[in-house]
Amino acid sequence: MGGARQADATPHASALIEGLRDIGYSLETAISDIIDNSVTARARRIQLITETYSDEPYIAIIDDGVGMTEDELVAAMRPGSQNPLAPRDKPDLGRFGLGLKSASFSQCRRLTVVSKKGGQACAAIWDLDDVAKQNQWSVQLPDHVAGIPAVDHLGATGTLVLWQKLDRLTGGVSYNAAKRAEIINQRIAETERHLRLVFHRFMEETKPLQILLNGRKVLPLDPFARRNSATIMDPEERLALLGGDVEIQSFTLPHHKQISKMDWEDIAGPEGHLKSQGFYLYRGKRLIVYGTWFGLCRQSELTKLSRVRIDIPNSMDADWKIDVKKSSAQLPPIVRDRLKKVIERIQAGSKRTYNKRGAKLVDQERLPMWNRIQADGQIRYRPNIEHPTFVSFAESLTPELQRGFFNCIALVGASLPIETVHADMAGTAEQIVPDFVDEDALAQAVHATLSVLLGAGKGIKEIMSLMKDVDPFRSAWEDTQRIIDATVETEEKQCSPC
Ligand SMILES: Nc1ncnc2c1ncn2[C@@H]1O[C@H](COP(=O)(O)OP(=O)(O)O)[C@@H](O)[C@H]1O
Ligand SMILES: [Mg+2]
Repeated sequence: MGGARQADATPHASALIEGLRDIGYSLETAISDIIDNSVTARARRIQLITETYSDEPYIAIIDDGVGMTEDELVAAMRPGSQNPLAPRDKPDLGRFGLGLKSASFSQCRRLTVVSKKGGQACAAIWDLDDVAKQNQWSVQLPDHVAGIPAVDHLGATGTLVLWQKLDRLTGGVSYNAAKRAEIINQRIAETERHLRLVFHRFMEETKPLQILLNGRKVLPLDPFARRNSATIMDPEERLALLGGDVEIQSFTLPHHKQISKMDWEDIAGPEGHLKSQGFYLYRGKRLIVYGTWFGLCRQSELTKLSRVRIDIPNSMDADWKIDVKKSSAQLPPIVRDRLKKVIERIQAGSKRTYNKRGAKLVDQERLPMWNRIQADGQIRYRPNIEHPTFVSFAESLTPELQRGFFNCIALVGASLPIETVHADMAGTAEQIVPDFVDEDALAQAVHATLSVLLGAGKGIKEIMSLMKDVDPFRSAWEDTQRIIDATVETEEKQCSPC
């Protein structure tokens, strides 16, 4: 330092600690960060308790991990308690030595930690109102832990993290108790889904981690639906890098017809399948980022069912720029190139399956109502005027009326609301269904189709299997079948005397 002068630049406690509040945590990322500490402390049971109706609402997270001595607790309360560059044990989910404090202050003004280890209980409190008043980096160490909310849930060893003065959960607005409870409970419900996803690997282990929300068990949510036999799993790839091994595995979720509606909705989540496709990045088995292609491609309808698991160890934090909240990451260049290839493969694969489905709909043999015409780089859908229903009806008309009839059909085809369909397909494709046809219209189509196909010498079984695959018959198959049965029966009756 030579002869340079130095001056004291200790940060103002109140300013810095208030600043810690605003690094961008949400309730779910904040709670996840507290749970990370519990997992690192080898907890097997974590209770989340929310008292929302009382005048002094609180959120408590209690684990049965190894706990802390008073010295360890005081160190833990220090913002920046661990150097982010120091190597961490493999199962350690921490990063900057900030999480406990910054996650808590993002949601509350009063953080109490009670810990039990070796038969001793200790407690420490950061209260931002006191820090503001005294402008000092000093935590309170209460003499007794009795009477601290939720402390009775602590077992022989473990840690309680208690948030009081929940000023952030209601967005700074002071509501009456009922309204406030409603808002907080809603946010907690959203958090539950986040926890189901973020910690699903731990909850699926043979000796599973248990998370209880107000006494109710939180169930794991596997974003790859691996238990469904219709899920397609590609082989796992391993990328050996300087900082550790990266594992990559692609999954194709079952088509919505191969999965129960409940499971389909569950893995779609509030954002829907389109927004949930993409990479699922895990750090030490803990989900960090999901539902993004990291800017390598767009979330398209074509790849809607593709999800790719990426596993990284905690030794690669700097390479992946894992942030304090553990909710964002960036791709190291070498991984980027590899993932581009993964995406190309997925895109090629899904194009194939989709085209197969598309082709089936408009296949010639199957008497489509619509033809798909691909020419000059454009695709058009045009009503098939050779469809037996159209042909047989047209035959009953005078030439004049026939022209009018075919004009009407051509107009319907030309005014297909392509943009609306496109927008709907991009959003909620599975909700688009063929319109209902009434019995009379269906019967007309069945009769016309039957007579053409019978005339072509096809057997009734073959006809049924042909019709079963095309609309409007496919969507109204029971009615169609009934009409076919009735028609065939009357024809047989008429024929039998001959
Ligand atoms: N639930 C807990 N059980 C045991 N020790 C804990 C718990 N929560 C926090 N700690 C201790 O406090 C330290 C600081 O935690 P935190 O601020 O989240 O930073 P980090 O997780 O990055 O180390 C941890 O490294 C750990 O030693
Ligand atoms: Mg932590």
